[in-house]
Amino acid sequence: MSHRYRIAVVPGDGIGREVVPEGLRCLRAAARGHGFELDVTEFDFGSADYWVRHGEMLPPDWREVLGGFDAIFFGAVGRPDVVPDHVSLWGSLLQFRRGFDQYVNLRPVRLLRGVRSPLRDHGPGDIDFVVVRENTEGEYSSIGGRIFEGTDRETVVQETVMTRTGVDRVLRYAFELAAARPRKHLTWATKSNGISITMPYWDERAAAMAGRYPDVAADSDHIDILTAKFVLRPQDYDVVVASNLFGDILSDLGPACAGTIGIAPSANINPDRTWPSLFEPVHGSAPDIAGRGIANPVGQIWSGAMMLDHLGEPDAAAQVVAAIETVLDEQPEVHTPDLGGSATTEKLGAAIADEIARAV
Ligand code: NAI
Ligand code: MG
Repeated sequence: MSHRYRIAVVPGDGIGREVVPEGLRCLRAAARGHGFELDVTEFDFGSADYWVRHGEMLPPDWREVLGGFDAIFFGAVGRPDVVPDHVSLWGSLLQFRRGFDQYVNLRPVRLLRGVRSPLRDHGPGDIDFVVVRENTEGEYSSIGGRIFEGTDRETVVQETVMTRTGVDRVLRYAFELAAARPRKHLTWATKSNGISITMPYWDERAAAMAGRYPDVAADSDHIDILTAKFVLRPQDYDVVVASNLFGDILSDLGPACAGTIGIAPSANINPDRTWPSLFEPVHGSAPDIAGRGIANPVGQIWSGAMMLDHLGEPDAAAQVVAAIETVLDEQPEVHTPDLGGSATTEKLGAAIADEIARAV
């Protein structure tokens, strides 16, 4: 009997609704070719329309509704003309990340054939690393406050939170990942020269974890020089693990070095598999181009490949990524405007789905 995966689909807002159908088209092509089934259920919550109708981003029972799925395939949320961004993001995506303990945010950065890097002198193969971002604690905490408001003594404090459990589990994930990659190299981002309590602790836990992985060459860079080196020497990196804030910055900078944000994928993973993991492109809802059918669907499709890998279909996943690269390289006529072409979202999505079907 073939495997059957239950997928919750949340397209969200803006171009999320345009790229998700192309992601599903490619996932279905991969399923047909590799003999598994996708049982897809689409939800309208996590969107501005839903907020207008219900006054909240999610139904109160969203955990029960989504908790039983094998994975969540997410588009993008945000319509700042209707709902403030902090309401839409904290009311949906950040609920999923924390509520489903998706403590690893994984963002592969690869310069693909057929895509030009904004960095001169870098070609395919030069940039191939993964950013592992801590996704539940660190600098993004809600501990703190504001006192003496509106006076000269006005004071604001926000505390960074690092727990041994939280730090060790993301480091362990990153070391396991590095150990499984050919280069077996891991870099941890730090700033222990300036942030003198939490970052030395992060360094201490990373060094202890490195001791358990003698096959992995581990080193660290301070975040400031690390950002410079991403641009100057991206070929030096393999797995880069970082706290929530540093990882957030690195995981936008990395994809930018590898071309357009329109192709960058991400996964929010609950490695314990107690809860579903969530797969989404790095980009947002792009209100500036929404409704015109010109968004690049590759970030969504590649996120779908990461989902297949997580579900236990690594061959299908690899084939989807290979199809993306082949089409981008060989068919400039289906490139969307962000890649310098004039094709539509649907045209690029259909070309990749055809390539997946052809290559099986
Ligand atoms: P954005 O990623 O939506 O757009 C940034 C720029 O990149 C825009 O010029 C856009 O046209 C372009 N772009 C993005 N994706 C593209 C694609 N697939 N193809 C071609 N061009 C693409 O980020 P921005 O403008 O900062 O935020 C817009 C909205 O999205 C806001 O409401 C924000 O809160 C939300 N957002 C949601 C995220 C999520 O759901 N995970 C992540 C980032 C932003
Ligand atoms: Mg970001």
